[in-house]
Amino acid sequence: MDRRGFVKLCTGTVLTAALSQSLRAQAEQIEACPSAKLVKADGSPLKASEIGLGEALVFAYPFNGVPCYLINLGNHTAHSQAMDSTDDGVYSNPPGVGKNNNLVAFIAICTHQLSYPTPEIAYLRYAHEGSELAGKPDRIICCAHGSIFDPAEGARVESGVAPAPLLPVALAYDAATDSLSATGIVGKAFIKRFFKNFKGELMERFGPGVYRQNVGETTKAIPLSQYSKDVPAC
Ligand code: FES
Repeated sequence: MDRRGFVKLCTGTVLTAALSQSLRAQAEQIEACPSAKLVKADGSPLKASEIGLGEALVFAYPFNGVPCYLINLGNHTAHSQAMDSTDDGVYSNPPGVGKNNNLVAFIAICTHQLSYPTPEIAYLRYAHEGSELAGKPDRIICCAHGSIFDPAEGARVESGVAPAPLLPVALAYDAATDSLSATGIVGKAFIKRFFKNFKGELMERFGPGVYRQNVGETTKAIPLSQYSKDVPAC
């Protein structure tokens, strides 16, 4: 997909979340993208109430080559707040969704040197049980160079060399069916940089151009431990 295609795909609408007045004063730059329903590996609907606490689920959105993490924060409720990214400016991260407002999703590409989960290895992971590096539970850890992100706080950088939060994916929750859909992102410029840096690798994995194609009406959400053969702890 060329730049025009990307812009056409993801700049149609700016979503307005239920935000406080002060946050509304910030630039709200969740780019609406074609909605994709989250399904299990076998294609059956993913029920929000079945999402466990132990690890992130990996799904592609809005393009085949962009991995994202879906996380159940358990007792933590994720609130919206003003955030700043290096590539895409100021934004307000979307609040958590689901019955307890505790389901969140982020683009699973580290903002430091763009480490991302592949079928071979995932240096970036959600550590519900805690980790040696974080010293506390419920953090996203990048073991590539030791950055820690807090998913209950918009994946802000808690410590380490990462220059910006992990970028958010907007989710919509359908209470009638207990289902989830991805509906938008922050990160248009960030994804362009990721595609540029990893073009060869992504072409090899997905096929020429396929990594830049939209995921379609559904996207499979798979536990990270099944998605990546090796998920190092640190
Ligand atoms: S790539 Fe994540 S900390 Fe360096």
